[in-house]
Amino acid sequence: MSVRNVVAAVIVLVATLLLLTTTQSARAQQQRPELPQDVKDWMARNQVQRWAQMLQTGEKLFAEGSCVKCHGEGGSGGRWAPDLTDSEWVQSDGDLEGIRETIMWGVRRRDFVDPDRRFQMNPSGGMDLAWEDFDAIAAYVWSLNNGTFLPER
Ligand code: HEC
Repeated sequence: MSVRNVVAAVIVLVATLLLLTTTQSARAQQQRPELPQDVKDWMARNQVQRWAQMLQTGEKLFAEGSCVKCHGEGGSGGRWAPDLTDSEWVQSDGDLEGIRETIMWGVRRRDFVDPDRRFQMNPSGGMDLAWEDFDAIAAYVWSLNNGTFLPER
């Protein structure tokens, strides 16, 4: 075998290998199935369901826990703490994450905007909250100002 033949053979081999791997990866991509429409609908429906459950849990925690004692029924405000339904936010931007942070960390007296408040808000409002409870209460408080965005029944 001459050197030239060896070189030609190697080139043919490499080209074949390249061709094989590219067609195979193209086939693998084609085979990845598109998510069927009914599964997509199902997922969307369950997300709405999950959001509805969060709002419900948040409302319950708010009403049965410490929050209501200072912030009043439905967050309408009271002697000890501000109205949480007036879309005026002093401790955060009032977005979901900001509200959630306030609930997690509470508000120390030196951070009060209203000097007439007497008692500081402890982290978690002094409650024993699970991780997902923060999301739920924040969602509920957010919804008091923005609506629930739940579909009409
Ligand atoms: C001991 C009374 C007290 C309790 C209990 C309490 N808070 Fe507060 N909360 C306050 C005070 C006081 C402030 C801050 C007032 C200020 O900035 O002048 C505040 C601020 C907030 C804010 C920020 C409002 C804004 O304008 O940015 C949110 C949100 C909030 N509380 C939610 C809650 C939730 C939810 C609970 C229950 C887990 C709770 N609080 C329990 C007293 C309380």
